[in-house]
Formats: sequence, structure tokens, C-alpha cells
Amino acid sequence: MNFLKDEVKGLFKVYVTRKIPREGLDLLEGYAEVKVWEGELPPPRDVLLEEVQAVDGLLCLLTDRIDKDIFTAAKNLKVVSNYAVGFDNIDLAEASRRGIVVTNTPDVLTETTADLAFSLMMAAGRNIVTADRYVRDGLWRTWDPLLLLGRDINGATLGLIGMGRIGQAMACRAAGFDMRILYFNEFPVDEVEKKFRAQKVTLEKLLQKSDFVSIHVPLTPSTSKLIGARELGLMKKEAILINTARGPIVDEPALIKALQNGVIAGAGLDVFQEEPIGKDHPLCRMDNVVVVPHIGSASFRTRTKMAVMAASGIVQTLSGNRPENIVNPEVFTD
Ligand code: DGY
Repeated sequence: MNFLKDEVKGLFKVYVTRKIPREGLDLLEGYAEVKVWEGELPPPRDVLLEEVQAVDGLLCLLTDRIDKDIFTAAKNLKVVSNYAVGFDNIDLAEASRRGIVVTNTPDVLTETTADLAFSLMMAAGRNIVTADRYVRDGLWRTWDPLLLLGRDINGATLGLIGMGRIGQAMACRAAGFDMRILYFNEFPVDEVEKKFRAQKVTLEKLLQKSDFVSIHVPLTPSTSKLIGARELGLMKKEAILINTARGPIVDEPALIKALQNGVIAGAGLDVFQEEPIGKDHPLCRMDNVVVVPHIGSASFRTRTKMAVMAASGIVQTLSGNRPENIVNPEVFTD
């Protein structure tokens, strides 16, 4: 891509809502005047509303709600680049209506997120967190044939809800563990069927037959509360639910009840209905649940790639090019 670097430098203003890896900021600083919110927590709403007023580009996080009020305040805004693959924090229709480009960071985090989903499955299946606590608490007295028995990953059936990039990366890992793979998706994905003998089934069948169910769909109005009391009730009593996608895809109160009442055996959760959750959250009090703080993409390499990709979305747009990872391409067709 041929950027007009010298011509544009200094002309544009970009606001970045949190410290991100240096590589992304370096790229932005080559093209624009960049201001970064240095706080540990997201910028308060009033700060964000003020900071966006004069900017051409906004690099934001999934913790920033980018809605109509933000777009109204941001008179010069041309591009919003989300430092995430999911963009449910952005009012996309409103952005498109105003001709504002929205970009995200797909692909670069696929494998890293699948690594975490698989880790959660293994940790929840084999009681890793409980076992670690058991040793640290000084409770380990002898080798015991009945101590901390878990569920085999190898040979088990994995149900993948969503067979996009991350779902496929999970299928690849599961095949290595000799798992049977069922998936629920809008359309069949021939490649995973051929390569990993994955079988496309209805959501009901997937829930009934799987030992582990892992969610890999974006949060949209049609996936919100996709897994509720009825769906949890269809799962095996021994089954474990993994969610590294978005919290609101699962009806959380229904999940808590299902875990408390033994409707399902456990869960491995990276995402929650409201984030962050505190130590007194009911999910934190259950031994059959592994909780981690939304770290699906959190590896050094991936977070750096995300920073460069998110910055590129802004640079490409402000340079007059169609960005590679645009999520509302309709803004270019008018
Ligand atoms: C995403 O990208 O949507 C993840 O939730 C954070 O990396």
C-alpha cells in the first residue's frame, strides 16, 4: 500500500484509549498527532466525549462504548479502529450512517484465542486450578486413587458453536487429541469436515451429544443469550461449557443455576455478562468453574500484532485507502 506519509503527518489527530504495545503507537505517530489515555482503567465517559471532539481517528478497546453520542461529539471522525476482533462495543449502523470507517483485528488472534479456549477446557476438565490450590493449601497427604478425578479430553466429543476462524483453530487442536468434533454453524465448512471429520449438527444435537461445548460466535442480537436454561438443560450432566467469545452469549444467571444444581458439570470462562467480575461473584465461588479475566488474545506476540493491525486500520483510512480489515465496507460503496 502506498501511504502518503509525509503529506499527511501532522494533519491528523488520533486518540488512543489505552496504552497499547509500542509498535502500534510508532506506526500511528508516523502519520498523525497521537494522544494516548495513560490510565490503567478505560477513560471515563466524559473524558472520551471530550477527547474525540477534534480527532480524525479513534483507536479504542472493547471496554469503550462507541455509540451515537460519541459519533455526535466527534465532528471530524473518519475512522474507528477497534483493538479486538469483536466489535459489539461499537454502534456499527450509526458509524456507517455517518460514513465513518470501522476496522478490527481479525486473524492475528485466532490461534492465541484457540490456545486459551483449549487450555480452559483442559483446566476445567482436569481440575487444574482446584488441584493447584489443594497443593498450595497444604492438603496433599498421599497419592490417592480417588483424588481430584477429572474428565478425559482425549477421545471426548467437542461441540463447537460457530465454525469461523477460532472454531476451526479449535477443531485443529481437538483433532490432535483424537476428539470427535460436532459443530453448529450457519453453513457447512467442507474443509473441517474433510480434515478433522467434523460433523455439522443442530444446536440441540450438539448440546445433547458433547462432553465439552465451546462457544466461538460473535455477539449479535441473534446470538445474545443463545445458551440459556433450556440449552443448558439439554447438555449432559458431565459436560463442561467453555466461553471465550462474549459473556452475553450465555444467560449468566441460568448458567450459575445450572452449575449450582448439577445440570452441567463445569465451565471454563474468559468472558462474562458484565466485566470485570469481582471475587464475590457467584462464578468465583464455585470449584467446578475456571475463571480468567478476558485474556483470550493475551500473548506478547498477538497483542503486538493487534496493535500494529489496529494502527494500520487508522493509517490506511486516513491515507485515503480502503483499510484491509474494514467491518462496514458499505461506507465505500456510496
Ligand atoms: C477480541 O478480540 O474480540 C477479544 O475478545 C479480545 O482480544
